[in-house]
Amino acid sequence: MAALVRHLHGLIREDMQTVAVEWTGHFSQQIRVATITSRPFGGAHISRPVASVACKHATLTKGNLIMTGRLVGKVSVITGAGGGLGRAAALTFADEGATVVAADLDVDLLAQTGQLAQAAGTPIHTSVADLTTEDGAKGLMDDVVRQHGRIDSLITAAGFVDFVPIGEMKLAQWQHTLRGELDTVFLSISAAWPHMVAQQSGSIVNFGSLAGRRATRGLGAGAHAVAKGGVMALTRQLALEGGPHRIRVNSVSPGVIETPGALQAFGYVPAFEAGARSKTIIDRLGTPQDIAWGLVYLCSDEASWVTGSDLSIDGGASAW
Ligand SMILES: NC(=O)c1ccc[n+]([C@@H]2O[C@H](COP(=O)([O-])OP(=O)(O)OC[C@H]3O[C@@H](n4cnc5c(N)ncnc54)[C@H](O)[C@@H]3O)[C@@H](O)[C@H]2O)c1
Repeated sequence: MAALVRHLHGLIREDMQTVAVEWTGHFSQQIRVATITSRPFGGAHISRPVASVACKHATLTKGNLIMTGRLVGKVSVITGAGGGLGRAAALTFADEGATVVAADLDVDLLAQTGQLAQAAGTPIHTSVADLTTEDGAKGLMDDVVRQHGRIDSLITAAGFVDFVPIGEMKLAQWQHTLRGELDTVFLSISAAWPHMVAQQSGSIVNFGSLAGRRATRGLGAGAHAVAKGGVMALTRQLALEGGPHRIRVNSVSPGVIETPGALQAFGYVPAFEAGARSKTIIDRLGTPQDIAWGLVYLCSDEASWVTGSDLSIDGGASAW
């Protein structure tokens, strides 16, 4: 270990970069991360530790520490794991060491996610479930606890939506969207909740959206906006109800992410793509991986004081 620390110091002198590590104990145990600022005449000054995290692995690139294994020991249920954001979450959580149970209604998409995880060397468990039904949601969560003992994190990414201008929207389409975007969230959480209360811990992350904060140019997003506003309100309320049980509840609000669904919408509503691009400060659309990193943070012990929040990951689109 001393050799590795010397190696780090060598890198700092060479690159005049800022981050290095100080190990306490064995490599697979606690790692204290300290900022190290280079001095003008060489050497390094170690400032106070900025984070203290349990890590299984740490990968060093030039002048940077990349921590992995941030979810080691955690059992994570990810719904909608056949879809764009749920799949990226499932693969990233597995890569970070979580035991992942990936759920979706679509057998083929879910199987593809399982194959990708297998190919990456971080296999996951898959479970087909209809999360618009109480039985589907309860069956999934009860099975997870039976097989893995607990549910440390729940990501509610399953859903479906109708984008229809208000003048054309039928009641059935309105209700279909609320069922796809609200019922799936409510049912998944209410089925996992008793288990989290019993274990007195848990982290739930829901999906809000830029559309829940701002109007959307070019898309008939009325029902979608209502649903996402509802998800964010539910998140705040459940954070309060979960507090005494040490259950944290947060949401992420993605901007426009390059998923198959978004690209399809661009195809039939060009004004939507133009609007999305013009609002984004960082000059590109989002990727599912951009969102997955936010989810990892919120489900890791690094976020142990974060609840009731909505994390915008939108390239700055909600900033103005
Ligand atoms: N993609 C974006 O640009 C974007 C932006 C903002 C918010 N979001 C939100 O993020 C979440 C995930 O979005 P996505 O783009 O990954 O969606 P997606 O359509 O790619 O994936 C949704 C998944 O849910 C599954 N599903 C549908 N009905 C189900 C049911 N009854 N039971 C179980 N699974 C079911 C689908 O099979 C699909 O695999 C959604 O809440 C969405 O509103 C996405």
